[in-house]
Amino acid sequence: MRIYRTKDYDEMSRKLANILSAQLIQKPDCVLGLATGSTPVGAYRLLVERYESKDLDFSAATTVNLDEYRGLSPENEQSYAYFMNDKLFGHVNLKKERTHLPDGTEKDARKACEDYDRIIRDTGGIDLQLLGLGHDGHIGFNEPGTYFETKTHLVDLTEETIRANKRFFASEEEVPRQAYTMGIQTILSSGRILLAVSGKDKAAVLKEALFGPVTPQLPASVLQLHPNVTVVADEAALSECTGEL
Ligand code: GLP
Repeated sequence: MRIYRTKDYDEMSRKLANILSAQLIQKPDCVLGLATGSTPVGAYRLLVERYESKDLDFSAATTVNLDEYRGLSPENEQSYAYFMNDKLFGHVNLKKERTHLPDGTEKDARKACEDYDRIIRDTGGIDLQLLGLGHDGHIGFNEPGTYFETKTHLVDLTEETIRANKRFFASEEEVPRQAYTMGIQTILSSGRILLAVSGKDKAAVLKEALFGPVTPQLPASVLQLHPNVTVVADEAALSECTGEL
């Protein structure tokens, strides 16, 4: 595992954008696994800038996102599909038909999950998977207690996650209670994993994830088992790892 410590959020975003850009330049037809949340927003902005200055070309790439709220359509401003269009897809030359998220409008959960697993399989495999970190150690929407063997599945969001995500909604009541998420087994099958973490409020959980026991109670701890993980975190997020680094 390689850990990059950055001064702050902006430097973290630059590092993330550099790694994602390098992936795209080395393998233009790569499969990028993408994440939502506030952590990757700065990196997405930089990728758009680099596309606008003609330094990046997304035309041959494919993307698969980690998760989507159940019940939200891509037109809903709180959906992850909307978020991705707004932050990245709508501003670069990715082919729309090669950008994928679970279908939040599919009511048949089993179908939604099987369809998404097939989509991921058909891409030939994720080259680089970007991940954020939930306050309870979740990756994607794999909440504490999720079996490591999971593929795409339907999740009941924890109270903590609902509370953390309410900032994107008008009220806590509007936050969907369920989501479809890529499973841990699928995340682990990516060629490379890029974990992005920012802020003091993630310091304790980041330390546990990187250096504590590997346990389903802290889903991100499973990343210790992957042979090619790069962590990009700012000083605040790494502030509890003083003895370990
Ligand atoms: C959500 C997403 C995760 C994300 C996490 C952290 O729950 N499903 O994929 O990593 O939040 O979000 P943030 O980056 O806003 O802290």
